[in-house]
Amino acid sequence: MDLARTDTVGGDQADSLRSLAGREMARWQRPPGSRSSCRVVAITGGKGGVGKTNIAVNLSLALAEAGARVLLFDADLGLANVDVVLGITPPLTLDNVMRREAELEQVVYTGPFGLHFLPGGTGFAALANAGTLEIVRLLGQLRALERDHDLIILDTAAGIADNVLRFVQAADDVVIVSTPEPTALLDAFGLLKALAAERQRARYQLLVNMVRQADEVGQTHRSLAAAALRFTGTELGLLGALPRDPAVEAAVKRRVPVLISAPASPAAQQLRMIAGSFLGDSFFSNPTAADSYFARLLSAMR
Ligand SMILES: Nc1ncnc2c1ncn2[C@@H]1O[C@H](COP(=O)(O)OP(=O)(O)OP(=O)(O)O)[C@@H](O)[C@H]1O
Ligand SMILES: [Mg+2]
Repeated sequence: MDLARTDTVGGDQADSLRSLAGREMARWQRPPGSRSSCRVVAITGGKGGVGKTNIAVNLSLALAEAGARVLLFDADLGLANVDVVLGITPPLTLDNVMRREAELEQVVYTGPFGLHFLPGGTGFAALANAGTLEIVRLLGQLRALERDHDLIILDTAAGIADNVLRFVQAADDVVIVSTPEPTALLDAFGLLKALAAERQRARYQLLVNMVRQADEVGQTHRSLAAAALRFTGTELGLLGALPRDPAVEAAVKRRVPVLISAPASPAAQQLRMIAGSFLGDSFFSNPTAADSYFARLLSAMR
């Protein structure tokens, strides 16, 4: 069965999906005056090129489209990734904030649907060696960002380098992206093992990308979830799947996210569904959501 074809939904269905997402949002929005909480979702995966950046960008856009206040943080410290997919070339990054050449608010850019984008540059790693005053200054600004957003989505580098693991381990939610290919699954398992060495708090879910046949989704999830539970004790849920969709490749070439360049494409429809399910779950029952992601991250770095 061709998943790309079977999962296509028409304009009417797209509208009802959007209104469903809108209703979920209304249910989900915190009552006025209640405690502020920001959920941090790390998009990661063991292998390079499995689609992490595309998913981080388009999921962020779908969440913003549904009305959430979303900050997309490019935490792939080596390569500028998100800006290529999002089509925003930021003149300043977190590096400039670290060098005191800019304030944090100057490096938060606004994209489609009011999505905010923070390019990490290589700056965050430098904080590990910064003085206390510097840390206090930046942490205050980063906490303000957490207060101003419902969700922070992190795009991370592939692999199991320490600085990647720390970003992921401090998150509330971890989305492991893998294709159904055995090499990608092995790398995803390697990442789960490395993460489990110092598990903090997160909920782990799999997103299967570049699916060609619908039955690949269950098979991929079953085999990875069984191995994860048996060898690392990690429970791995299934967040969803995206078909291999030529609209994604075309979008990357045009530097316009697929959610905008091809909103009715199978991949864009699935991304909206996944965003809807994200917004629908028990977000504000997270008992630890009141503390700061960036504070946790910094204490892990020092
Ligand atoms: N669902 C999809 N259908 C078709 N092509 C896809 C899909 N998802 C990703 N791709 C293709 O895979 C390429 C790599 O995607 P992306 O850059 O998002 O991966 P990544 O995991 O972030 O890579 P890296 O590890 O280098 O950061 C993209 O250029 C895109 O063309
Ligand atoms: Mg990437």
